Amino acid sequence: MDSETVILGIESSCDDTSAAVLRGTTLASSVIASQEVHVRFGGVIPELASRAHQQNIVPVVDTALRDAGVGVGDLHAIAFTRGPGLLGSLLVGVSFAKGLAMSHGVPLVEVDHLRGHILSHFIDLPGQQMAHPPFPFMCLLVSGGHTRIVVVRSPREMETVGSTIDDAAGEAFDKCAKVMGLPYPGGPVIDRLAKEGDPRRFDFAQPRVAGLDYSFSGLKTSFLYFLRDSVAASPTFIEDNKADLCASLQRAIVDTLMFKLVKAARQFGIRDIAAAGGVSANSGLRDALTAEGVRRGWRVYLPPPRFTTDNAAMIAIAGRSELLAGNFSSLSAAPYTRG
Ligand code: KG4
Ligand code: ZN
Repeated sequence: MDSETVILGIESSCDDTSAAVLRGTTLASSVIASQEVHVRFGGVIPELASRAHQQNIVPVVDTALRDAGVGVGDLHAIAFTRGPGLLGSLLVGVSFAKGLAMSHGVPLVEVDHLRGHILSHFIDLPGQQMAHPPFPFMCLLVSGGHTRIVVVRSPREMETVGSTIDDAAGEAFDKCAKVMGLPYPGGPVIDRLAKEGDPRRFDFAQPRVAGLDYSFSGLKTSFLYFLRDSVAASPTFIEDNKADLCASLQRAIVDTLMFKLVKAARQFGIRDIAAAGGVSANSGLRDALTAEGVRRGWRVYLPPPRFTTDNAAMIAIAGRSELLAGNFSSLSAAPYTRG
């Protein structure tokens, strides 16, 4: 198998229907249909998500193949997200990948969504050699559903050394945003508003969790109670202090993430530090990683913003490692919902 493998990736674990084609490690096409239907409910409604995937999957895959100028028969493999995620959403991508592979005799490879996020660092853009972290490296994986510190020894050998015991960092952003009346998903909105605010104006409780694990539910609760009391005293409190609230909340989340990451890097003696997942788009977190890198002599790897949130290019690049290892999936592979 040479470097010119052509792989179609399919991602449907949550509320983005996505397909991408990789030629070798280089992105040939990428299509993402984000589901607007959830915005008015302030969160993802699983039943609506699977229905939207069902509507989007054919045009999304078709466009990705067309944009890359390849037919299904040209593919060396079809890579799909098997889990974790929402069952009804995963079922659409898994079933579609199986049907497409079977009808054209193309090999199938399955990908764990979280590994996909981490391996997004190895996607090259046309005419652009990207900085790939060397193995072993440490990855802070921060998404809407997961918050983990992972030691990555090779594309297929990863060890989770810390993880959240309750909410994920992205969930903390989204839930706190909802309490402030901001639209879903709240993470990018808080990021934007935080730029105008004072991050030291308000202090929120920092969690005390042993080892390298995280906890974000206490922060969410303390934010909620603080707002409830403040609004009782002054009904326009949120509106009057929105930027400072966002900046202070973002600082609390970023400080929490960085504290354990620094500890883990020291414990494992690793200085190549990467971030991945939707929350790694956060400008406060990116700035903190860069600053900490300068202070501690880390080499820091931040994925291009377009590969931070859910996308199928990361599924295709992770699928490439499976294909090269000869690790094929079977038609009986069922989705799994938990990581
Ligand atoms: O990785 P992702 O697209 O989906 C999951 O696998 O969960 O992550 C989505 C999460 C959401 O919680 C969203 O609010 C958060 O990533 N997010 C951000 C930013 N962009 C996306 N959080 C903070 N700042 C951002 N700029
Ligand atoms: Zn994700």
